Amino acid sequence: MQENASFARHRRLRQTPNLRASVRENHVRTEDLIYPLFVVEGTGVKNEVPSMPGVYQRSLDLINAEVQEAVELGITMIILFGVPDHKDHTGSSAIDQQGIVQRATRQIKDAFPDLTVITDTCLCQFTDHGHCGIVEEGEILNDPSLHLLAEAAVSQAEAGADIIAPSNMMDGFVQAIRTGLDQAGYSHVPIMSYAVKYASAFYGPFRDAAHSSPQSGDRKTYQMDPANRREAHREAASDVDQGADFLIVKPALSYLDIIRDVRERHDLPVVAYNVSGEYSMVKAAAMNGWVNEQEIVMEKMVSMKRAGADLILTYFAKDIARWNR
Ligand code: PBG
Repeated sequence: MQENASFARHRRLRQTPNLRASVRENHVRTEDLIYPLFVVEGTGVKNEVPSMPGVYQRSLDLINAEVQEAVELGITMIILFGVPDHKDHTGSSAIDQQGIVQRATRQIKDAFPDLTVITDTCLCQFTDHGHCGIVEEGEILNDPSLHLLAEAAVSQAEAGADIIAPSNMMDGFVQAIRTGLDQAGYSHVPIMSYAVKYASAFYGPFRDAAHSSPQSGDRKTYQMDPANRREAHREAASDVDQGADFLIVKPALSYLDIIRDVRERHDLPVVAYNVSGEYSMVKAAAMNGWVNEQEIVMEKMVSMKRAGADLILTYFAKDIARWNR
C-alpha cells in the first residue's frame, strides 16, 4: 500500500487527547452559563419540580444558600423566575416592590453584589389567566400590555436587577421597556430580549415549575410558529432596532439553525435558552441508564456554542460548572 497517497490525513490531528484539545474549536466555559432559579413565597420551601428532577422551587430563606453554592462553582449569572402566591387579572404583583422577584433580587444582590442577577420580565406567572399580556374578552391585547411590562421592568431595576430579560413576545416590548428604564434613570441597565421565541411544546415542564400555563387558549398569537425561519429574522431585527443588548433564541436545540442565522445577521451577543423540556428529556433518559448524562449534556452544550451562541441559559449550569473543574 502506497504511504504517500494524495488524500487528506484528517486523523493526524486526532491522535492524542492533548492534540485534540489543542485543535478544539469551541468551548463551554462556566462564565458562559446562566443558572435559572425559581423563587416562591413562604418559608422552608424546597419543592422539587416533578417533571424536572434536580430543579427546585425555593423560598427566600433558602435561596441564598443555593446561590452561594453556584457562586462557589464559578457561576457568574443567574436568572430569577418568580412564582407568586397572588395572581390577578393584570398581574399586579409583577410590578410590586414587595413582589417575589423584587424581594429575591434585593436579597440576592445584598449578599452577592458581584453576581449578575437577571430578571425574567413577563406577566404569565402573575396573571390569573396565565397569558403574557392583558386579556380582555378572550383577546390578548398588545399595546395596553406594553405599559405594564415597562413598569414591571422598572420595578425590577429598582430592586437591583442587573439585566432585564423580557419574555412576553408582545410587539414593541423592547422599545417600551427601554423607554421606561431610561425615563426612570436606568439607562445603564441592559435588555436581554427573548427576541426569537417559538410556541413550543418544550416549555411543558417549566409551566409546572412556574405555574404559568394559560388557563384558556395557547400562546400562538404571540409566540412564533416552529415552521418559520424568515420570521425569526424579522423578530430579531425589530428587537435590535428597538434597543436590545442581547438576543435570546428559545428553545435552543431544535433551533440551532436559527441561532446560526441570528449570529450571522447581528453583532449582539446571542443567548441560547436550553429550555425545560430539553432538560427533562435528558434527565429522564439518564435516570433510566439509557444515555451518559455528562457526555450528552456537554455534547448538546458545545453544539449550541458551535451554532453561534455566546451564552447558554441552562438548568444544567451547576452540573456543567462541576464537570468543568
Ligand atoms: C414566560 C416564560 C416561559 C419560559 C421562560 N419564560 C414559558 C412560556 O413562554 O410558556 C419557558 C422556559 C423553559 O421552558 O425552560 N413567558
